[in-house]
Amino acid sequence: MANLNKLNLLMCGTGEYTTGWTRSGASKSDKKIGVVALTLFDLRRLGKVDKLGMVGVNGSKFPEIRAHLQHNIAQIYKDLDVSFDSFPGDTETDPEAYKVSIDKLNPGDAVVIFTPDNTHYAIARYAIEHGLHVLVTKPATQLLSHHLELIDLSRKHNVVCFVEHHKRYDPAYGDARVRARELGEFNFFNAWMSQPKSQLETFQAWAGKDSDISYYLSSHHIDICCWILQDKAVPTRVVASAASGIATSKPYNCIPGTEDTITLLVDWQSVKSLKHKGTAVYTASWTAPLKSGIHSAQHWYYLGEKGDINIDQAHRGYDVTVDDTGKTWYNPFYMKYSPSESGHFDGQRGYGYISIEKFVDAARNVNAGIAQPSDFDAQGLPTITNTVLTTAILNAGRISLDEKRPVGISKDGGKWILH
Ligand SMILES: NC(=O)c1ccc[n+]([C@@H]2O[C@H](COP(=O)([O-])OP(=O)(O)OC[C@H]3O[C@@H](n4cnc5c(N)ncnc54)[C@H](O)[C@@H]3O)[C@@H](O)[C@H]2O)c1
Repeated sequence: MANLNKLNLLMCGTGEYTTGWTRSGASKSDKKIGVVALTLFDLRRLGKVDKLGMVGVNGSKFPEIRAHLQHNIAQIYKDLDVSFDSFPGDTETDPEAYKVSIDKLNPGDAVVIFTPDNTHYAIARYAIEHGLHVLVTKPATQLLSHHLELIDLSRKHNVVCFVEHHKRYDPAYGDARVRARELGEFNFFNAWMSQPKSQLETFQAWAGKDSDISYYLSSHHIDICCWILQDKAVPTRVVASAASGIATSKPYNCIPGTEDTITLLVDWQSVKSLKHKGTAVYTASWTAPLKSGIHSAQHWYYLGEKGDINIDQAHRGYDVTVDDTGKTWYNPFYMKYSPSESGHFDGQRGYGYISIEKFVDAARNVNAGIAQPSDFDAQGLPTITNTVLTTAILNAGRISLDEKRPVGISKDGGKWILH
């Protein structure tokens, strides 16, 4: 076994996914104590990670975030140190603090990016140009041109760049992918993903302004569909349609133009057989009902030449009913928050955790010289290279909504383009 050095890592973004802390206090979603920081604190306990930093925009949030992590993580799980360096300082506000904190890192260190969708590209680019390994949340970028640039830059600087598509590590989705690929030619895919209207308050700072619900939620199932169809079929045309009127009304008052529910209708062409064409429908909404017992509705249907697959990830045969709150379907296969018998954090087998650990392992292996970043492309992991069609479809969908027309996708001189 090679002796792997521990990884120094900077978390960009201090919000719901990183800490569970939102603009209105502790998150009311299924991620009350976040995913990213908790996983990294545990990986530090287990000896994979060394120094941890966290960068946001408004430093005055850090005292509350530290108290929240101390109270809900350090006091709950045994031996879990929740300390980290923070940027900007507690009395400062600086939207470019990520540059200051990245400048303090050394090549071979790592950055994980969980900031609003429209900031991913600039932060990822800055980090890669500093020789840092990058894990960027979905959607990797909003523009296909930016995604292609990150592919080129990560190759040039020989760093790992993964997109945090954690659903690829859900054992049910991973198994379904293998079975779907055995069903012959692709025919039809239909995905639905939604979150309750209350998320419009959590995401008030950017919802409808800097990103849309398709980028935010459909990115998950578009990626799963692209992963199933990798080297089997390619998308050729996208038409988008949207419902509106709820997000822009009281009490949410999102800016005019904010869509409630977005549907992308995508044509797919088989790679091997000219006559086989498929259709995919990807729908996402952030105006789902408030008390449905789930945070994220998520199900899809796949039809192939020789059979079909149905999968409902919101209802996994495990529900809890409490007098005060009614029925809730939990998903400990994603993040398991209940402690182990010894009192330690016990969520190491959750796919939210595994997704971050795979990135940490990849970066450490590359630093030790026992792997090349391109090895992970060949393994089918969600690298920046392997996820380019997900961004192409999302970007085409946005153009289709804005310009009210179909958008074509094709390859020109080895590069994907929209037209
Ligand atoms: N919340 C979830 O369940 C979830 C799940 C998977 C992925 N994501 C993705 O994670 C990203 C962030 O989501 P969130 O839910 O944590 O959002 P959030 O709105 O709760 O938090 C966003 C954070 O980014 C910080 N930020 C904004 N601009 C920044 C900049 N220039 N430099 C550094 N930090 C900056 C803000 O200060 C805030 O702390 C989004 O791209 C989202 O798609 C979220």
